[in-house]
Amino acid sequence: MTDSRATVYIETYGCQMNVSDTELMLGKLAAEGYAPVDGPEGADVILLNTCAIRDHAEQRVIGRLGELKRAMKPGSVVGVTGCMAQRLGPQLLTQASHVSMVVGPDGYRALPQLVARARAGSRSVETSFDLEEHYEDFAPQRLDRVRAWIPVQRGCDYKCTYCIVPFTRGPERSRALADAVREAEQVVADGISEVTLLGQTVNSYHDGTHDFADLLRAVGAVPGLRRLRFTSPHPNDFSDRVIAAMAEVPTVCEHVHLPLQSGSSAVLKRMLRRYTREEYLACVARLRAAIPGLAITTDVIVGFPGETEADFVETLEVVQEVGFDDAFTFKFSPRDGTPATRLPADLTVPDEVASERLNRLIAVVRAGSRQRNLGLLGQRREVLVEKAARRGDLMQARSRDFKTVLVSGDEQSLGRYLTVELTGTTGSTFTGTPVAERQALPVAR
Ligand code: 5AD
Ligand code: SF4
Repeated sequence: MTDSRATVYIETYGCQMNVSDTELMLGKLAAEGYAPVDGPEGADVILLNTCAIRDHAEQRVIGRLGELKRAMKPGSVVGVTGCMAQRLGPQLLTQASHVSMVVGPDGYRALPQLVARARAGSRSVETSFDLEEHYEDFAPQRLDRVRAWIPVQRGCDYKCTYCIVPFTRGPERSRALADAVREAEQVVADGISEVTLLGQTVNSYHDGTHDFADLLRAVGAVPGLRRLRFTSPHPNDFSDRVIAAMAEVPTVCEHVHLPLQSGSSAVLKRMLRRYTREEYLACVARLRAAIPGLAITTDVIVGFPGETEADFVETLEVVQEVGFDDAFTFKFSPRDGTPATRLPADLTVPDEVASERLNRLIAVVRAGSRQRNLGLLGQRREVLVEKAARRGDLMQARSRDFKTVLVSGDEQSLGRYLTVELTGTTGSTFTGTPVAERQALPVAR
C-alpha cells in the first residue's frame, strides 16, 4: 500500500540546538500525520531551519532558497524557521515570493496550523518569544540512532556584543530538571546510551530549584546511560559545584567545549565576555585539576573591532598555553542590531588582516592538536561507533575525550562500544585497532 500522507522535508543549518529543534518539528508534524522524507524533491512541505550567527550562514540559505524555487514541485510549500526567520521576519516573505511561512525558534507549537494555512494559499510570520516554551509535550523524532540531544535551556541572557543569538532566541529559560530526566530515561529506553545536554550557556542552567550540577548528577545517574556531554558552557558558570559534579559523575565525559573567543583582555572586554585572559586560564586550570585527561575544545573569533596585532598575538599565546584539542575559528561577521556594530568605524579590522590572522590561527591550532594527538598514539580508548566514515569501509567512532577514531566495522557496529588502541593519526583524527569488545549494556525496551 502506498503511503498517502503528506510529506515533509526539513534541512538544518547551524548549531546542535537547531538539529534538536528540527527533531522537535519533525515529531510535531509526524504527530499531525506528515511523513518525513529525505529530500526536497516531491516533498509537500519544505522547511529550512536556519542559522543567523554569521553572514555566511545566511547567504547559504539565500542560495538554497533560490535552488528550491526552481526544484520544488507545484503545490508544495516552503517555510523558513530558526534564527534567520526570527531575525528577518516579514522581510523574508518580501524577498522570496515562494516562501509562505516564517517561524522563529519559539513558534514551532503553531507549526501544524501555519503549514495548513500555507497549503491553503496564505502566508504567515510567527516570531513572538514565549518565555514558557520548552516544547515539553512534543515527541522529538530523533535523526541519530546513537546519540541524543536533549535541550535543557533555551535563549541567552549574556549579550556578548558580537552575538545575534539573544535577539534570535530570546531570553534564557531552563526546563524543569524532572522533565530533562524523563527525556533521558526515554532516550535510554529507545536504545541510545549517549546524551548531550544543550543550552546556549548550558552551565548557567537553573530551573528555580536545581542548578547545572544537580542536572548533571540527575541525568548522569539515569540507568543505562553510558555517556553524558553538554554544550556550550560559559567559562563564568563553572562553579565549584558544577566542576565537582563533572568530576564525580562517572558518565560525564572528559571533554569540555570552552569558548575562548579572544585571548586579549582588552578585546574580551569589548566583546562583553565578562572574563579576562587570566580568568579564562584559571577556569581551565580548575577544570584540569579536577578532571584528569580532560580534553578542551574552543571557539575563537579573529578580527573583532579594535583587535590589534598585539591582541591577536595574545590569542595565539593562550591557544598555545592551553593546548586545545581542537578549535573552531571564525572571522568576525558584523550582525545588524548587535552592539558590536555600534563600535567606532575606525576600529574595523580590514578583511585582508582578519583573513591573514585566521590563517595564522588555524596553523597554530592544527600544529598544537597534531602534537597532542601524536602523543596519544599507543594509548587505549573506549569508543562508541557513531556512523559510517566518509571514506572507505570504515566506521567513525568517538572516545569519551571527543577524539574521532576510525575503526573497521559495518552497520551492525552502530551504537557499540569498543576498546581500541590508537594506532595512527592524521594529526586530527585517529585510526584504532580493537583490543577487546564490550557490548552496549542491555537496555529495557
Ligand atoms: N562573527 C563571527 N563569529 C561569531 N560567533 C558568534 N557570533 C559571531 C559573529 N558575529 C562564533 C562564536 C561562537 C560560535 C558559535 O560562533 O565563536 O562561540
Ligand atoms: Fe544556533 Fe546561534 Fe545559529 Fe541560532 S544563530 S542556529 S542559536 S548557532
